[in-house]
Amino acid sequence: MTDETWSIDKARTVFGVGRNDLHFLDILESGELCIKLQDEQITINEIVQKIKSANGKSPGYVSSFTLRIPQLITYQIKKLRTTFEKVFEELEYDGEFIGIYPVKVNQRSDFVTSVIRSDSEYGLEAGTKAELLLITSVIKKEKHRRIVCNGAKDPDYLRLIRESVEKGFKVAISIESLHEARMVVEHFDPKKTELVFRIKPYLNVEGHWSHSTGRDSKFGLSIHDLYNVVDLLTQAGFTESITTILGHAGSQITDLKSFSRFGQFLTNLYAQLRDMGLTNLENIDFGGGLAIDYTGKHPPDLMYQYARNIVLGIKEMLKESHGKHPFPNIMIESGRGITAPAALVIVEALEVRSVFPAPGGECFSETALTKEEEYLEKISNVTELTDLVDIWNDFHSHFGGMSLAGLGAIFEREMIVGILERATRERLVALGIQSFTSEKQIRSFWHPEHIVIGNFSVFNSIADYVLVQQHFPVVPISNLHVHPETTVRLVDITCDSDGEISHFYLQNTDNVWFTKDKRPLTMPGGMMNDGIPVGILDRLPGSHFVLALVGAYQDAIEMDHNLLGDLPDVELRLREDNTWGITWITGAESIEHLLRDVGYADINVDEDPYMNS
Ligand SMILES: Cc1ncc(COP(=O)(O)O)c(C=O)c1O
Repeated sequence: MTDETWSIDKARTVFGVGRNDLHFLDILESGELCIKLQDEQITINEIVQKIKSANGKSPGYVSSFTLRIPQLITYQIKKLRTTFEKVFEELEYDGEFIGIYPVKVNQRSDFVTSVIRSDSEYGLEAGTKAELLLITSVIKKEKHRRIVCNGAKDPDYLRLIRESVEKGFKVAISIESLHEARMVVEHFDPKKTELVFRIKPYLNVEGHWSHSTGRDSKFGLSIHDLYNVVDLLTQAGFTESITTILGHAGSQITDLKSFSRFGQFLTNLYAQLRDMGLTNLENIDFGGGLAIDYTGKHPPDLMYQYARNIVLGIKEMLKESHGKHPFPNIMIESGRGITAPAALVIVEALEVRSVFPAPGGECFSETALTKEEEYLEKISNVTELTDLVDIWNDFHSHFGGMSLAGLGAIFEREMIVGILERATRERLVALGIQSFTSEKQIRSFWHPEHIVIGNFSVFNSIADYVLVQQHFPVVPISNLHVHPETTVRLVDITCDSDGEISHFYLQNTDNVWFTKDKRPLTMPGGMMNDGIPVGILDRLPGSHFVLALVGAYQDAIEMDHNLLGDLPDVELRLREDNTWGITWITGAESIEHLLRDVGYADINVDEDPYMNS
């Protein structure tokens, strides 16, 4: 069954707009995508136009840019604290919540500053010397904030930690091996030292980072190491220095029940270590793991369920020690969950290219016309999927290959393929979609036949799309009030064929909704598919797409493939009087800078369009 009527609500469903972590996006009746900050609605188009008029002549102006919204960091920070506090109240939990921001997730100064401005008690995590230097410089006037130093430690890192402690910073050093414990014993004064045991998370979780859990984890102490480390540290007088155990189960963990198991595991260790005399042990640090809802398929209370599972796990395990140990404070080092919503890449569509000739063209020859009619007839009579597959196999065996044919004949063939594919999609709808979602060959008919060239580099702006097949939501910024005409692939301007975004998550609805050309827009049960729906194909050039939830990791891992550097950075802020403003932070990375990075300091880039940015 198909439903041809269209509405803004349907558009919201299809693009996941307003749902879960895209709560700050909405669609106006005019079909424009907008950002909602409190009661203010700001269309992306307004932002694009404002930047163009104010900065169109600035060095480094490019029609695509990254939009930063620090207020969304504040929103997430507050949400995380209030979520835990709510769970504590519900479950009568008597420990404290301690938030720690791991700067590796996004080290940009506007992001780190937003984190610390959002919560006067929030701490920071460093994984390297450079990150520790960054942190101590940012909070040099706020030395009460906790700093957790993770990562493999060499003598220089330890020296930097010692100097930071001497300057009055509140640093906790994580011990990840017996070797590190020995170095700490050798170089630190137990009275001035706070220690964290980083434990390998003995836990099975699904997902890309599952190898960061369990015995094979690259990080932390295994249980047999722990015995030796406790022995060494207690004998060296460090018993009272140990305040925290830490386990990081991996990033983006959507299996929420695993946090309850993880809570039990770490609480068991907490109780055992306290029984062994480490009575200053009072915190459990759960590392990161809080997931962001990139697809829109997760329950709306993902953060609440995460917090609740952790607390339930701890309580369950503490029951067994009958009140002997206090409720541990819960430290959370979420970075993805804090920063992902706060950056969006706004990509200008430069042009649209089509795989097939436009429909409605005339066939050149009588034979081609006869063939087209013959296959159209066959397709319209199909009742079984297998027949459809047979028809296409038959078509390809007659028309496939690269036989020596005139250009006209090849043109004709492409036109016929396009026409038959459209007829096949019509037939597939008539046959009922549920039955063929798993058929790879059938799904190929849904593959977009239009390619949009976007003025950006996937490798620079959203490298995780190619590195770990991370899905990011993509939404066109206008004509969302129109029943989508078709779907497209958004490709970048690098010369790499991996530089394209086509994944689109089909949201779960009872019946399948289709584009006008019969590609699915939703699917019962939800499904990842290829093809970003668009309202009006002809109006795409010059318009923009939003790539959302890119604030975590993407700035840190960007690549300069093809010497395409960073896009300009623009900040959006809602002022206290409810008016909004944008600040041009930096222009696009200069070509001179990119060349210097690869050893060409001597090339004089007179024509560098991004110079002095
Ligand atoms: C020790 C530690 N804490 C926190 C994080 C951040 O986790 P997330 O990506 O879930 O924010 C990481 C990420 O690798 C980590 O290694």
